[in-house]
Amino acid sequence: MMLFSGKKILITGAASGIGRATAIRFATEGADITIGDVNEAGLVETAAMMARKPRIQPFDAMDNDSCRALVDAAAQDGLDVLCNISGVLKWGPSETFAIEDFERVLRVNTTSVFALCQAALPHLIQSKGNIVNTASTAALQGIAYTIAYSASKHGVAAITKGLAIEFASRGVRVNAICPGHVETPMTQTPPPAGDVDWSLVMRNAPKLLNGSCAPEDIAEMFAFLASEKARKITGALFTVDGGQLAG
Ligand SMILES: NC(=O)c1ccc[n+]([C@@H]2O[C@H](COP(=O)([O-])OP(=O)(O)OC[C@H]3O[C@@H](n4cnc5c(N)ncnc54)[C@H](O)[C@@H]3O)[C@@H](O)[C@H]2O)c1
Repeated sequence: MMLFSGKKILITGAASGIGRATAIRFATEGADITIGDVNEAGLVETAAMMARKPRIQPFDAMDNDSCRALVDAAAQDGLDVLCNISGVLKWGPSETFAIEDFERVLRVNTTSVFALCQAALPHLIQSKGNIVNTASTAALQGIAYTIAYSASKHGVAAITKGLAIEFASRGVRVNAICPGHVETPMTQTPPPAGDVDWSLVMRNAPKLLNGSCAPEDIAEMFAFLASEKARKITGALFTVDGGQLAG
């Protein structure tokens, strides 16, 4: 029996990295999937890698109307699972970090997650469905030079736990994954300009040998949390980080 036979699932950030791996993983489990991202060409590439043809729905997480339109398109016949994976990383010395960049990171990583959850919740109440958000180890610790991103992911953790409490009695589960370092385009961008003390940035290396994660390692946790196997889990933050936060 496949994990998601007949389940209707919306996955954002699916043009790349963790979102793409999650879409590919869920497609092997019989899901009817809508994939959303600002990068339409990347969505088309992802669709070609999936075992079941998804609905492709470009959207811009900067725009709340676009978030609502994405959910409307995905939920035409109901919705069982929302996986919020779209995100951006911008970091650099705090003295010179542009407030406009701070606000952009918060809008893409945090405000859009709330907007998408808000639009999806009426459907998820109907289906007794669930939400899996993408936080980060940056949601659980301070990171030098990474204040905007870390604040945005602390916000995702707060959204996750608060919604879990608010909607538990209506049968909706809400959880988040906190990945550590994952090999994706996001972590291959060049370091920021300016004076960066790398000893402050690299304080929590993975403890496992080859402890950096692949996108597929995170997709596996999405599959577990979104499935019936996790029926007793809500309001939880699951770290998948090769032991980065172990100490
Ligand atoms: N890679 C890591 O080490 C790591 C660690 C912890 C958490 N995360 C989180 O995992 C998620 C996926 O990141 P990834 O590593 O796969 O990076 P990625 O850059 O490969 O994927 C991010 C996706 O988000 C999309 N996106 C960006 N801005 C958007 C917008 N305005 N509207 C819609 N989509 C937009 C991008 O087009 C891209 O497809 C993000 O939320 C990220 O913060 C990543």
